[in-house]
Amino acid sequence: MKVDGQHFRSIWLEPDGWSVGAIDQRRLPHEFIITRITTAEEAGEGIRSMLVRGAPLIGATAAYGMALAMRAEASDTTLERAYRMLIESRPTAINLKWALDEMQRALAPLPASARAEAAYARAREIADEDVAINRDIGRHGLGLIEKIAATKRPGDVVNVLTHCNAGWLATVDWGTATSPIYQAHDRGVRVHVWVDETRPRNQGASLTAWELGHHGVPHTVIPDNTGGHVMQHRMVDLAIVGTDRVAANGDVCNKIGTYLKALAAHDNGVPFYVALPSPTIDFSIDDGIRQIPIEQRAASEVTHLTGRTSDGRIETVRVVPEGSQVANFGFDVTPARLVTGLITERGVVRADRAALASAFPERAGVS
Ligand code: MRU
Repeated sequence: MKVDGQHFRSIWLEPDGWSVGAIDQRRLPHEFIITRITTAEEAGEGIRSMLVRGAPLIGATAAYGMALAMRAEASDTTLERAYRMLIESRPTAINLKWALDEMQRALAPLPASARAEAAYARAREIADEDVAINRDIGRHGLGLIEKIAATKRPGDVVNVLTHCNAGWLATVDWGTATSPIYQAHDRGVRVHVWVDETRPRNQGASLTAWELGHHGVPHTVIPDNTGGHVMQHRMVDLAIVGTDRVAANGDVCNKIGTYLKALAAHDNGVPFYVALPSPTIDFSIDDGIRQIPIEQRAASEVTHLTGRTSDGRIETVRVVPEGSQVANFGFDVTPARLVTGLITERGVVRADRAALASAFPERAGVS
């Protein structure tokens, strides 16, 4: 998507042909800083520290991390060590394991001398595939938005609520939840987005709002607690969120707070859609609520807030009393029964075992 008229992806191969460029997402929305990742360790640290984040982008970064490891030294030991180091960088998004398994499958049978080139080629494919998948997700989601627009008076706005950042910054390009929104906006459908701020790290307020603003999509940032109110007062036509892992039964794991939005949507008859690329489906897990590992992050994400002062300095301040205990669960699981549909690259799929397996038989192992 565009930043000040220039097309960007969230991750790319630098013109030197080996190092990896990325946008440092910890600095947005105040500073647009491009950084270079030059080792597998830096890729792992970039994922851990959330320099890059969002399930598909975590996967693409790990794939490039493997390529950087192979460039340095392509033995079986390095392959195994880089896989282990990268897979431990964040626990919840299954795209990380998916991408690392893809890399290992492509590289393990090769002689060491052929691994670096093959690793860069597969990493680039994974990134390009993500862009194509997200474009298709957008096409299918666009149909849903257009259907709602057709029920409105000419010129009326379709109001979409989203949570966290499942935008182009969380993927390689387009985003998942935002792809239908960008495509609708680009086609002249009037859309407005309610952007949940998404405490504690504020991915909605700092990343989704930044993205939508740079693309010219009308949006309003709301505190996380506002979703129920705007749904109750008919100010939301549909919710679209992303996901870090969908279990085989259709349960959806996403940024903490998603479940509460799904409950509010259910109570108010607001359609609640989840947009996802197929690598986000974990067919090895039958019950999302019981089996998906939920990342717990540093207390400082809750106790402190970072922002720009009126004289332009970036400062971090404490907002919780010293000594109070803090819990920081990064994700929650929305039961499949609260999900109206899963917007995938192959169309809108029911959130249940049979529908997922029939849409992706090769992944479900039932073909
Ligand atoms: O902790 P984050 O910022 O990596 O969490 C991101 C989300 O929860 C996204 O909604 C999810 O990864 C889907 S991104 C297309």
